[in-house]
Amino acid sequence: MKKILVVHGPNLNLLGSREPSIYGAASLDEINGILQTFACQRGVELSFFQSNHEGDIVDMIGKSVKDGFSSIVINPAAYTHTSVAIRDAISAIKVPTVEVHLSNIYKREEFRHHSLIAPVCAGQISGFGVQSYVLGLTAAIDLSEQ
Ligand code: DQA
Repeated sequence: MKKILVVHGPNLNLLGSREPSIYGAASLDEINGILQTFACQRGVELSFFQSNHEGDIVDMIGKSVKDGFSSIVINPAAYTHTSVAIRDAISAIKVPTVEVHLSNIYKREEFRHHSLIAPVCAGQISGFGVQSYVLGLTAAIDLSEQ
């Protein structure tokens, strides 16, 4: 069975109560539950990882090959706009990666318009709330089967 890693970056542990008008009402556990149900239907195995610490995310990505993941879905959250280290980690591995955002980062403050992560990803999905994750997972499943 294909294994896919889902990475949630900083402050996404607060989803549900965090600015619901921007990020929606679903908690991280609820989002993971929706993805888990979808993954079961598609016959893939998911592992979930959330961290507020850049280095922990870098470590997780760096060992993704050894851990047997065939693709990654990542919401790098604020690190999208700042992290050369996460970009380099994705670039260093041969695991296809899909970047997702709940909000449409291009409709928001200017500092969110630029993603350091996007150029090293297979693609980016932004602005569809929880559905961004489901679409991202759909793409990651396709990529893991290539
Ligand atoms: C986010 C968008 C980022 O700009 C922000 O820092 C987040 C969440 C999103 O999912 O819309 O924390 O990645």
